[in-house]
Amino acid sequence: MPNEGSYEAALKRSKQVEDDIAAGNAGKYTMLTGDRPTGRLHMGHYFGTIKERVRLQEAGVNTNIIIADYQVITDRDTTEHIQDNVYNMVMDYLACGIDPEKTMIFTHSAVPAENQLMLPFLSLVTEAELLRNPTVKAEQAASGHSLTGLLLTYPVHQACDILFCKGNVVPVGRDQLPHIEVTSKIARRFNERYGKVFPEVTGLLGTATLIPGLDGRKMSKSYGNAISISMTEQETAKLIKKSKTDSERNITFDPENRPGVSALLTTAGICTGRDPKEIADEIGMGGSGQLKKYVTQAVNDYFAPIRERRHQYEEDLDYVKDVLHEGNRKANEIAQKTLQEVREAMGMVY
Ligand code: TRP
Repeated sequence: MPNEGSYEAALKRSKQVEDDIAAGNAGKYTMLTGDRPTGRLHMGHYFGTIKERVRLQEAGVNTNIIIADYQVITDRDTTEHIQDNVYNMVMDYLACGIDPEKTMIFTHSAVPAENQLMLPFLSLVTEAELLRNPTVKAEQAASGHSLTGLLLTYPVHQACDILFCKGNVVPVGRDQLPHIEVTSKIARRFNERYGKVFPEVTGLLGTATLIPGLDGRKMSKSYGNAISISMTEQETAKLIKKSKTDSERNITFDPENRPGVSALLTTAGICTGRDPKEIADEIGMGGSGQLKKYVTQAVNDYFAPIRERRHQYEEDLDYVKDVLHEGNRKANEIAQKTLQEVREAMGMVY
């Protein structure tokens, strides 16, 4: 994690930009963010970032989403299911309200000029800077693999993602802040060396809601505590039913001592817009059985319209492919233009 001082500064900067967008200046901003296509998006993604992207899209920010397929192989050695994961990710986005008329959706691997920025950008960072990135270190430790060149340098690749489309706002969780710092550094150093091509980049930090997994830990597919957007009502019910609570009958909201019960209450609260404590009081001696019923209903009600839209896209894979092809086409156009500016700034025009 970055130290507290730099976190405070980042938070302040994030608030300034949020205020500016709220004040009617959304047109000044280009958002770029994205996801690794390693599986289906879940409620943690939805409330943590997808909803936020839709909000920025509707506020009039120029919004762009990268499906980061090359990032899949930073810490794993297979691209199994990647095509299926990418198509399903597009379906998740569309179902959640990402509008392809307003938001460009594209993949790394389809945009060569974006990837080419990697070469000049790599020259702008040192080995020591790459090695001390705390998020990279944590990911390497979690993967159990040795540090690959791609894992070490993917924050630079992420700078390519953000800067090829002149992105200046990136909605991120705190774990991504070190990457935003890398991007800012690269933009600044490039501009200093070769002349101004790239904007100043701000991470948008404040607005996302952190929702725990069903066991109170971070929501993650690998923990089996995640409700995917694409789950059926029955699958949702089954997962909630299986979740671990505790032996105390009376339901109370106490995240510290009762992580399972409290995670369920938080989940219900977020889906109903109610205070988790109020839900706890209402259920009281009804116990975890009644709590689980309530949560299941709340989640299924909230996601019903989203899931219904998703089914329509599942039936129309051609449309999903069209959305991606159009996003990739546009991204190539933008990337070629930026790469040309980079060549000119560097004097590489022959
Ligand atoms: N690293 C992000 C994740 O793990 C995904 C991502 C790829 C991204 N490129 C990005 C996020 C650029 C923000 C900006 O989910």
